[in-house]
Amino acid sequence: MKQIKGYSKLAKEAKIEWLIDNYFEQPEKALQMLKSYWHLDSNIQKLHDEFIENTLTNFYIPYGVAPNFLINGKLFCLPLAIEESSVVAAAAKAAKFWVNRGGFKSSVISKTKIGHVHFIWSGKDTDRFIEFFENIKADLIESTNPITKNMRTRGGGILDIQLKNKTSEEPGYYQLEARFDTCDSMGANFINSLLEDFAQTLKHKIAESNLTDKDIQIVMCILSNYTPECLVRCEVSCPVQDLNDDDIEPTEFAKNFLRAVRIAEIEPYRAVTHNKGIMNGIDSVVLATGNDFRAVEACVHAYASRNGKYSSLTHAEVVDGIFRFWIDVPLSLGTVGGITTLHPMVKFSHELLGKPSAAELMEITAAAGLAQNFSALRSLVTTGIQKGHMKMHLLNILNQLEATEEEKSAIVEYFKDKVPTHYATVDIFCKLRGIKDLSEINLKN
Ligand code: MEV
Repeated sequence: MKQIKGYSKLAKEAKIEWLIDNYFEQPEKALQMLKSYWHLDSNIQKLHDEFIENTLTNFYIPYGVAPNFLINGKLFCLPLAIEESSVVAAAAKAAKFWVNRGGFKSSVISKTKIGHVHFIWSGKDTDRFIEFFENIKADLIESTNPITKNMRTRGGGILDIQLKNKTSEEPGYYQLEARFDTCDSMGANFINSLLEDFAQTLKHKIAESNLTDKDIQIVMCILSNYTPECLVRCEVSCPVQDLNDDDIEPTEFAKNFLRAVRIAEIEPYRAVTHNKGIMNGIDSVVLATGNDFRAVEACVHAYASRNGKYSSLTHAEVVDGIFRFWIDVPLSLGTVGGITTLHPMVKFSHELLGKPSAAELMEITAAAGLAQNFSALRSLVTTGIQKGHMKMHLLNILNQLEATEEEKSAIVEYFKDKVPTHYATVDIFCKLRGIKDLSEINLKN
């Protein structure tokens, strides 16, 4: 294999040719595969091509919806982009459960974003440096007026800048820590541009100052994806006796449910899986609405560790006979900017949700996370997780086995009152086909 120079400069066809010739035993088959995922509308394909570098084709994951989400008194049908079989079903099940029990109550606690200019100043007179900073604070803000103008008219902008002395952790290390309200945008580009402006102004002001040490090294200017002040709370509640459903004894269910939450609060091994289930719901909405799920993931897990030990994002209690289950989760989301007005399916999701503001999208997304956790815990403390999970995964197994539509229907019917396992599915498939085992058939995949 030869190293290639200037790959990104090649035309798309040449990129594909190089790739399939170098990495595939059957280049023609690989080419057909890539092309089969091209969009029929060349304008949409061009849009996709231009999202990233070296686009060759598109990578599909399923886009489903979960109806009946009653959030703050309004009914939503949530868009969920996810490959995991049982996630949409679990969301829809929780939505159905809570729609007649008051629904989800969601509220944004704060929407503040944070960014830093990380720099080194090795001067000795810290008190004078702090005084200098206080004197130039207004200039720092003023210097960014052209960039913040539009955001200020929308009610956002810079909220605050502070000088943070970090020299006890690293010699000479200081930060300009700034807080922002980015209105309906996620605001990454806005924040990063402002921080780079602050850094320039800081350098100039230091050069002009009467500080004895004027040597400053800007290390980097970057927003923080840790946004514990961009926080939303979502909760569901009902009298314990209303938890009756599917023959569940309400008091026993509430007791076991609270225990399951408690275990996730105190045991990091469980908390990670518990929170992963929450992120099944959150990531699906984040992806479907064109937001940055990597940023959300990074932030959420840091937040889950904020007290020094990784813990549950959700909590539950029973007080005076009322069951209450809630999540506090940092979600830095946008409904304008990025690909929100570009990607056709993202636009579709926003329309489906009634073109929410960023705050409303935070509220909706938190509900998806809480719903997912409710469904997971409900299964875990009652039937076990595999019943619902394998029911949804069954079609994946049957597709792997290249079962016909008739075989699929017969096997789905067979498992209606049983929990499917991989072994049992293969077994019933072989019996139905009249074969001893899978070695008797030639699977394509
Ligand atoms: C699977 O994707 C998610 C669960 O493991 C979450 C949980 O255990 O709470 C079911």
